[in-house]
Amino acid sequence: MDTLLNPLPHSLSGMVVEDRDRHLFRVARRAFTDDAVLEEERSNIFDRCWLYVGHSSEITNNCDFITRPVGGRELIFNRDRAGVVHAFLNTCPHRGSMVVREKKGNALAFRCFYHGWSFNVNGRFASRFDEGNYGKEHYGGGCADLAQVPRLESYRDFWFVNFDRNAMSLSDYLAGAKEYIDLVADQTEAGMEIVGAGQQYVINANWKLLAENSIDAFHGFPVHSTYFDYLKNIGSLRMESGNSDFTARGMTSLGNGHAVIEYASPWGRPIARWVPSWGEEKRELVERLRQGLVQRFGQERGIRIAETSRNMLIFPNLVINDIMAITVRTFMPDAPNRMTVSAWALGARGEDEELRKLRLFNFLEFLGPGGFATPDDQEAMENCQRGYKNLREVGWNDISKGMPRVGPPMNDDEEQMRCFWRQWRDRMADRTAGGK
Ligand code: FES
Ligand SMILES: [Fe+2]
Repeated sequence: MDTLLNPLPHSLSGMVVEDRDRHLFRVARRAFTDDAVLEEERSNIFDRCWLYVGHSSEITNNCDFITRPVGGRELIFNRDRAGVVHAFLNTCPHRGSMVVREKKGNALAFRCFYHGWSFNVNGRFASRFDEGNYGKEHYGGGCADLAQVPRLESYRDFWFVNFDRNAMSLSDYLAGAKEYIDLVADQTEAGMEIVGAGQQYVINANWKLLAENSIDAFHGFPVHSTYFDYLKNIGSLRMESGNSDFTARGMTSLGNGHAVIEYASPWGRPIARWVPSWGEEKRELVERLRQGLVQRFGQERGIRIAETSRNMLIFPNLVINDIMAITVRTFMPDAPNRMTVSAWALGARGEDEELRKLRLFNFLEFLGPGGFATPDDQEAMENCQRGYKNLREVGWNDISKGMPRVGPPMNDDEEQMRCFWRQWRDRMADRTAGGK
């Protein structure tokens, strides 16, 4: 494959090369380092794909709001006085200041601090200036209102925005990912909620390295061996399982670049998989939860929700990892070699206090910025980014693992990453061809 020897592919779509006959899949390292690639990603991926903005539980009451960066913009995500959910671009129509500067709160109106223009929480301009200040036309056509994000839709309390007015519906976009969101949303009848304020941290690596890493079981044992040793030592590792071994369930392509790996958990899950280190007194409680799931969903689905772990990537930048805790994570590029990550813990509403403690402990212990996983993953990703300095001589990543396999892919193959890269290639190709 001569193209693989070319360190400088000529087109963006030429940065992903697949040869199914020879079981080869390569990605040009320039895709991780180039300013021009990031520019194209901004306009062709982040301006056009559905991007996660927040969870219903973060704005439970009327007039609740949160602000956060999404897709390179600053947004207000809120509920108005009637309970309707909105996403506004957080910029004043007057001269541009961010209107809401708090991270979250509850307010009957928003007032820009610069010159005092005010807005109702449904975005309508609400100041009353004396005659002579502004003409009648000034208020026409919504020009003085807060600008809405063109599209805002939700699925099972997960809210997404899209800056492309003509994008397909969120439901079509999520495709097979909906079934796996259901496996999270169905964990209690009371519904799920974001717990606490979440975490934010910076990784000095390209954003696509985290997209890959989040669904990459291949690196699990080499990179996280300390964690597995630790679990073993404290009695929190329970490899045996009712349905399969750690690697058996495999991965599923969910369409539109989304993919999931699913496997029998080696660890405890507060939603209903007990491990000895939790103590006998919690065993009964966890067993009751497990039986409750079986009653609601039948043996197979009930045990699947209780027992199995899932790492899912929703293209381009939402990860829902339903593992020893549930983490919801998004990440945005600041530069080709730098991203900002936001992560939140999701838990069952009304969860038993002790199990909630365990959930939060698990979340921090493995996935927290100072936990067993995140610093190790960060080191791996930053190490790759440093390695890409050699790209003129060694220009391609290999993502071929599992291609010759007959039958369904294993979760430590790399098919889930190939799903991501095919979608990336197609969206970048659309652009270079002048498509939509
Ligand atoms: S910039 Fe907001 S009132 Fe002037
Ligand atoms: Fe990891």
